[in-house]
Amino acid sequence: MATSEWIIEDTKFEVNNVKETIFTLANGKIGVRGTHEELFEKEIPGTYVAGVFDKSEAQVKELVNLPYFWGLRIYIGDEFLNPMECEILEYKRYLDMKHACLHRYLRLKDKKGRITTIQGFRFLSFTRRNLALAKYEIVPENYAEKLYIEHFIDGTTKNSKKNPTEKVKHYTLKNTRVTDKFIYTEAHTRDSNYGVSILSSLEVEGNIFSKDLIDTVTQTAEIFPEKGRKIPVFLYTSILSNRETDNLFEENFKKMAEARNVGFEQLFEEHKKALENLWDIANIKIEGDEKADKALRFNIFVLLSVVNPEDEKVSIAAKGLHGEGYKGHVFWDTEIYMLPFYIFTYPKAARTLLMYRYHTLKAAMDNARKNGYSGAQYSWESADTGEEETPKWGKDYYGDKVRIWTGDKEFHITADIAVAIIHYLRATDDWDFFFNYGIKILIETARFWGSRVEYNSKKDRYEINDVIGPDEFHEHVNNNFYTNFLARWNIEKALEYLEFLKKNSQKKYQKIVEESKITGQELNHWKHVINKLHIPWNKETHLIEQFEGYFNLEDKIITEFDDKNMPIWPKGVDLTELNNYQLIKQPDVIMAMFVLPEEFDDITKKVNYEYYEPRTMHKSSLSPSIYAILGLMIGNHEKAYQHFMRTALVDLENNQGNTEHGIHAASAGGTWQAAIFGFAGMKIQDDQPSFTPWLPDNWNSMKFKIIYKKELYTVYITKNNVEVTKTPLY
Ligand code: BGC
Repeated sequence: MATSEWIIEDTKFEVNNVKETIFTLANGKIGVRGTHEELFEKEIPGTYVAGVFDKSEAQVKELVNLPYFWGLRIYIGDEFLNPMECEILEYKRYLDMKHACLHRYLRLKDKKGRITTIQGFRFLSFTRRNLALAKYEIVPENYAEKLYIEHFIDGTTKNSKKNPTEKVKHYTLKNTRVTDKFIYTEAHTRDSNYGVSILSSLEVEGNIFSKDLIDTVTQTAEIFPEKGRKIPVFLYTSILSNRETDNLFEENFKKMAEARNVGFEQLFEEHKKALENLWDIANIKIEGDEKADKALRFNIFVLLSVVNPEDEKVSIAAKGLHGEGYKGHVFWDTEIYMLPFYIFTYPKAARTLLMYRYHTLKAAMDNARKNGYSGAQYSWESADTGEEETPKWGKDYYGDKVRIWTGDKEFHITADIAVAIIHYLRATDDWDFFFNYGIKILIETARFWGSRVEYNSKKDRYEINDVIGPDEFHEHVNNNFYTNFLARWNIEKALEYLEFLKKNSQKKYQKIVEESKITGQELNHWKHVINKLHIPWNKETHLIEQFEGYFNLEDKIITEFDDKNMPIWPKGVDLTELNNYQLIKQPDVIMAMFVLPEEFDDITKKVNYEYYEPRTMHKSSLSPSIYAILGLMIGNHEKAYQHFMRTALVDLENNQGNTEHGIHAASAGGTWQAAIFGFAGMKIQDDQPSFTPWLPDNWNSMKFKIIYKKELYTVYITKNNVEVTKTPLY
């Protein structure tokens, strides 16, 4: 068993939708929420396969909640041994992050005094991502009555189960087969024609019989136990979708046969090994602060769980594979918050994530066209095809219906993706990716901005009007600093890299110019835009106005915090009029300084941090990590730890109050970045990582690894020393 720094523990047996998210297992391909094996009415089961979306009656496409396949119930005779109706003698459930498995130990006494122990664990394989495995031991401690062990695949699951207006059943079951060896069913989505095949097999002593109950399939063993004897139970489940094969049954049958042949123990061993290899690089050890150490590890665990380096057609949803918040959609969260973790610890995964943007480039170009622009306009929220999936309607803070404008107006994601491409290239030297794919994205995104800007002849400047910046409290604003600054950067980089190509490889340059149909006239236009795009930056006061007119808004300062240390709305704020105050949801000007730190001097960072920090409500989990990092950059150490803990504990302490809807994957990435770019003070200087750390009082040391350009850096930071060793990585 792993030591406690690797364990997230649950000691209270209950239905708890927040814990279901925290105890979710995911392997980048499949995600299964941490519901109990028996599946209780009030739980929100969630089984997701990355890339499987459907709309049906929903407002927009959603990641489909598929049948729950890990069902396991025990019957003593004909009576369901329902833990909810028993006395819980002992209970412990824990997530072993080191080996990505969820353990359960449950000792129960039913009303007739019969004591049963159920002990075991489940995992989703990191080596064969289609496989879900579980192993339990059941012990009837003080009785010897006939038992039925029932394994089931529940095909009644729905999206938004608890919401009367939004619940949708996205699939129907087809081609169900039941035999005494296995149960099999296929969930076919109703609109999108995805098919997900689930083949499952219970391995246990006794007679086994199976049933097709139309919306559920069961496989049940009849057992005649002896008092105190352990009954081993294995569940092998294989999940394949028609994203991989059209021969669902045959292929899945083959996969299952292979798995059974290898056997549970061996499959577990190879899975463990894969995890250990990942952790060997990704782990960060903080000595002296157990809480921070474990919380940080949990966030890294999330990041390792949500990515599949073998699937270029999916990216990471804002809520991971852990729940249905934001409908399983992909945002800028991936490129700006999570990607740095992958770039520096798991570059193969980083490349795969960027390839998702390449595969959806065509959709982004269609999107731009549809909206009257050129180039590629990436969707604010995307799913499988890359089309815009942002719902038009949602709820405000009072629960009233409100128009959501982000899908129409939050343009900055297009530049965020361009930034991510350059950041990836700089840290990996993956020119193959860049020449074949990245540069096309860079050009088409620059082209978008070239068409999105508007020329204001009175002021002789280009402007970008009617947008939403990262701070979503303010809609329909003009010349948002973040958007304009990144748009300009995006165009600059496209020009720079085209120039670089022209100098270094005429052939490649010609090819890209022809393919992208770039003309001299267009390049001149871009240069013109760079020079004349309005960037609202007063270099004398150093204070940057978030958008035109922001400083004229009513000023409110945050002075009170709740018991989770989160800001409380200042008195008198009308939550339906957030456009009218200077209060912001999350960093915006500060965000630009975080994304492109080298573009700002220290004094500008400091002045703006000090202005915006007390006006930030942190109503997005994407917020605190950025303040931690910027704070540390400018030497504001005092609040950095507070911000870091807010982001590190967002799910473990549910401090945004919505963890039941899924994990905060961007915040997980932000936590890692706050540790590395914040406390460890990592920067790339002279083509290698350098470190100017600051450790909180209770941190004795920090140890971690970083990959930079195919070399592995092992870093050990103590209060007064930084030790870096470098080894080549093959
Ligand atoms: C934030 C966005 C973020 C989205 C998904 C929103 O609340 O304001 O910045 O991309 O959540 O995480």
